[in-house]
Amino acid sequence: MLSMTHLEAGEGPCVATTRRDCMVSGSPGYQPAMDAQATLPLPSGRAHPVLGLGTWQLFQDPVGTLAEALRLGYRLMDTSGDYGTQRAVGEALRRSQLHREEIFLVTKVEEDEDAYDATRRNLEELGLHYTDLMLIHRPPASGVGEELWRGLNRARDEGLTREIGVSNYAVHQLDALAQATGETPAVNQIEWSPFGWSRQMLDHCRANHILIQAYSPLTRTERLADERLAEIAADYGRTPAQILLGWNLQLGVVPLPKANHREHLAENLDVFDFELDEEHMHQLGALNHQWSALGESLQYV
Ligand SMILES: NC(=O)c1ccc[n+]([C@@H]2O[C@H](COP(=O)([O-])OP(=O)(O)OC[C@H]3O[C@@H](n4cnc5c(N)ncnc54)[C@H](OP(=O)(O)O)[C@@H]3O)[C@@H](O)[C@H]2O)c1
Repeated sequence: MLSMTHLEAGEGPCVATTRRDCMVSGSPGYQPAMDAQATLPLPSGRAHPVLGLGTWQLFQDPVGTLAEALRLGYRLMDTSGDYGTQRAVGEALRRSQLHREEIFLVTKVEEDEDAYDATRRNLEELGLHYTDLMLIHRPPASGVGEELWRGLNRARDEGLTREIGVSNYAVHQLDALAQATGETPAVNQIEWSPFGWSRQMLDHCRANHILIQAYSPLTRTERLADERLAEIAADYGRTPAQILLGWNLQLGVVPLPKANHREHLAENLDVFDFELDEEHMHQLGALNHQWSALGESLQYV
């Protein structure tokens, strides 16, 4: 259950109870008022946007949709070698008026690939010189990805990616990888919403300065009609989707909502001018029953 007292007492990249407090002074992208261009600092000092756009199954006019997302203010895009959206992401970036450094691009290598070769292939598809963050998509069947990590390290050494991290890792797997390689991943991208999250994971990531990226933060729409969520949304004059995103932002977790519809793109960015109070944060956290949009319990608990 979510305890704000505990949040306040925690350690890690962001221990704030308010979104404004999530901005850590001195981080490269520090802005006093939070918006989609606000950032959280990674251990390297690099700035990581507080919200991003998911691109899994973003197949309707992908380049046009992504260009519109950039125009609206999205600065982080999440893709993967197996999403079929890398070409469109690269094309939208090239067509935008933005400098490459203004965008935080995340992509992934599969657990059965050679991570270094896959990084090169992904970059070719993207048509870019580097990614900002390259993730191991999921832990391999045996071990915790030590060999994959070595491949990503080489890619980083050669400037092909700025940061490296993991996805779908449980706490014990994060620990084992850090022990085996001597390096803690900068990011763990996991499924995360009030209906499915983990206090243990949150505490572990805060203590070890691992930033959590929340995938399926809108529960793939499956829980947007939840009665309690709808009541809280009505209290704030917001949509259920906006409340789910606000909950993440206030935890210092980076939501990656996917939206193909233009109205969804805009709605999901319009989340920086309200703040959930302690009681509502608590009530949302209490909806947790380790639910997963994948139809099973959360993979990492
Ligand atoms: N690392 C991993 O293993 C992993 C696994 C899954 C996902 N991901 C990443 O996380 C991203 C997000 O997760 P997801 O795509 O599974 O699910 P999601 O973001 O929870 O949900 C996407 C669905 O919500 C709809 N939607 C968006 N905004 C809405 C709003 N304001 N109101 C109502 N409905 C709204 C979208 O509709 P429209 O598209 O029609 O607008 C789409 O059907 C993915 O795209 C991917 O980048 C990573």
